[in-house]
Amino acid sequence: MVGFVVGLRRFLGALALLLLAHEAAAAEQPTFVGRNGTKLVVNGSTFLFNGFNAYWLMNVAAQDQAKVTKTLSDAAAAGLTVCRTWAFSDGGNAALQSSPGVYNEQVFQALDFVVSEAKNHSIRLILSLVNNFMDYGGKTQYVQWAREAGEWIQTDDDFYTNAKVKQYYKNHVQKVLTRVNTITKIAYKDDPTIMAWELMNEPRCQVDTSGQTVTAWVMEMAAHTKSIDSKHLLQIGFEGFYGSTTPDKIWLYNPNGYQLGTDFIASNQVNEIDVTTIHVYPDIWLRYKSEEERQTFLQQWISSHWNDSMNVLGKPMVFGEFGKANTTPGYSQKVRDDFLSYVYGEIHSNAESGGGSHSGGLLWQIMGDGMESYYDGYEVVLSQDTTTTAVIKKQSEAMAALANKLAASHD
Ligand SMILES: *[C@@H]1O[C@H](CO)[C@@H](O)[C@H](O)[C@H]1NC(C)=O
Ligand SMILES: *[C@@H]1O[C@H](CO)[C@@H](O)[C@H](O)[C@H]1NC(C)=O
Ligand SMILES: *[C@@H]1O[C@H](CO)[C@@H](O)[C@H](O)[C@H]1NC(C)=O
Ligand SMILES: *[C@@H]1O[C@H](CO)[C@@H](O)[C@H](O)[C@H]1NC(C)=O
Repeated sequence: MVGFVVGLRRFLGALALLLLAHEAAAAEQPTFVGRNGTKLVVNGSTFLFNGFNAYWLMNVAAQDQAKVTKTLSDAAAAGLTVCRTWAFSDGGNAALQSSPGVYNEQVFQALDFVVSEAKNHSIRLILSLVNNFMDYGGKTQYVQWAREAGEWIQTDDDFYTNAKVKQYYKNHVQKVLTRVNTITKIAYKDDPTIMAWELMNEPRCQVDTSGQTVTAWVMEMAAHTKSIDSKHLLQIGFEGFYGSTTPDKIWLYNPNGYQLGTDFIASNQVNEIDVTTIHVYPDIWLRYKSEEERQTFLQQWISSHWNDSMNVLGKPMVFGEFGKANTTPGYSQKVRDDFLSYVYGEIHSNAESGGGSHSGGLLWQIMGDGMESYYDGYEVVLSQDTTTTAVIKKQSEAMAALANKLAASHD
């Protein structure tokens, strides 16, 4: 009997140690980024970040994992804590989804690797689920699949309305969200490494410039996404163009008064949408305007959307894409660094005066070493572009310091 009691004690001691070890491991797990009103919150504190775009991670991970690890490691060293990337690649060879509902397991495991490596480097992911544009398939591929299945398709914008195409998209959302990561063994929908889902990269709709068609699609797809996964944040993926519910803003703020079939206000009012986003490309959108006009536009684009996010929508804003192409007339490294410093300053001052309502920015875009074939003019290679990396790091530190300051002021 004595032997049994000692054995039991040993057993219980070992069990306690195991439980402690389990708790320690659990404490290291990131917690979900959530939302409280106009702020993102994590673990009870306001979540602010500096981040980046690297759409290519899954694609490259399928060929060369070391490149992904090195890039994420360089990014973490620059204080970058959020990365936006593609969780799609539709049609053709080496695609994630080669045809509707048919997935390439090797490519899916590459995405598993990206999620796992992001976690290893304390980087959270914003995963976009389809493209408005043809790159990596997108709208064009989806409607082509439906056409091949006998649907009568007029334009790529049937993506938003054709029942079969919508079902294809819903199935893809379901497939990605319920994917169980082969490395971490965690379902994507349960993984706090993922910060947010994004319905689409830069939705636009030429056949209905009012924005109503896209808003109806957002309502349907946001409800679908949240019905599978209510733990993660959801964003649309908008560039920010105003639409028919705010006609004055079309003329005041849209570049050249463009109407591109989205309605920043109406679509972001959809209940399931947690975060608003803007992108900005003044050099392209206002190519024939003066540098002064581009600067004025940029300043107003940021302030009007931030103000609307806070005061009209009551949701936090993420600056989803901004960058400076080295093909821009008059380009120099300094021009790029000054542009980034300006945008970073605006994000920081919005976040400061709004108590955290502008959550952070995602530079377009970070590339790894030896990725010349991917270059689009906007690429920043952290290990090579030292002055730009210093600008990025400074912003990472400023946003982290502000988050600490906001946390302290609540204690
Ligand atoms: C969350 O907060 C608790 C209590 O302050 C802390 O112990 C834990 O490490 C935090 N977790 C993360 C992921 O920051
Ligand atoms: C949300 O923010 C409000 C105002 O800052 C605060 O009073 C409240 O406790 C927060 N709620 C949660 C769940 O953190
Ligand atoms: C990254 O995470 C995986 C899975 O948890 C683990 O096996 C691997 O050792 C980690 N790598 C590093 C460099 O920490
Ligand atoms: C901010 O938004 C509010 C509410 O729509 C509006 O009344 C105010 O004029 C806006 N301020 C600026 C500077 O645009």
